Amino acid sequence: MYAARTALRKSGSALSAAAYAKRTKVTLPDLDWDFGALEPHISGKINELHYTKHHQTYVNGLNSALEQFHELSARVDQDSRVAAQLTALQQNIKFHGGGYRNHCLFWKNLAPASQGGGEPPTGALARQIETQFGSLEKLQALTNGKLAGIQGSGWAFLVKNTDNGGQLELVQTYNQDTVSGPYVPLLAIDAWEHAYYLQYQNRKADYFSAIWNVINWKEAARRFDAA
Ligand SMILES: [Fe+2]
Repeated sequence: MYAARTALRKSGSALSAAAYAKRTKVTLPDLDWDFGALEPHISGKINELHYTKHHQTYVNGLNSALEQFHELSARVDQDSRVAAQLTALQQNIKFHGGGYRNHCLFWKNLAPASQGGGEPPTGALARQIETQFGSLEKLQALTNGKLAGIQGSGWAFLVKNTDNGGQLELVQTYNQDTVSGPYVPLLAIDAWEHAYYLQYQNRKADYFSAIWNVINWKEAARRFDAA
């Protein structure tokens, strides 16, 4: 078995890496609505480009980085430079992995009015918002403040902190940095220019205000209850 594995590694590490990568490729998630379904709050053209071009770029980038990772991992014992290459690759995995994951969250936590978009949360999440923030409107204002404070590109997340008794927190990140560990994302809001510029140009505050009309609080409540 060892000999066979070694022979395979020596003769065809690229082949084995390709086979492994084939099993681990990510793809764009299905959307629950048509591109134009979030109008007038987010235009159909923005959604189309955001999904088919931008999110697809992160899908491709993550698959490529993982393929390189598996290929390099298969021969890390043969050359110490490979360890350095693996280390350098971490940034691509972080960027594209975050982009892939953040956008998956984003699409799912948006919905047209016909599917409940914009309807205030109910149940345990609604009570937690009331307890911590006083009202949904105050939470939205705080979130908009976080979004407006992003210098450049980033995200704002409403999370449940499972290390802190299930408290809600607002977390702002840059680039495609995502949340993990005790932070369970309930909402992920994209503050990159590609998410609004075609429709809102420099008026990004208008985009941040408008997006609450299509926030899928049912999905946020489901994530809150499941965490
Ligand atoms: Fe985006």
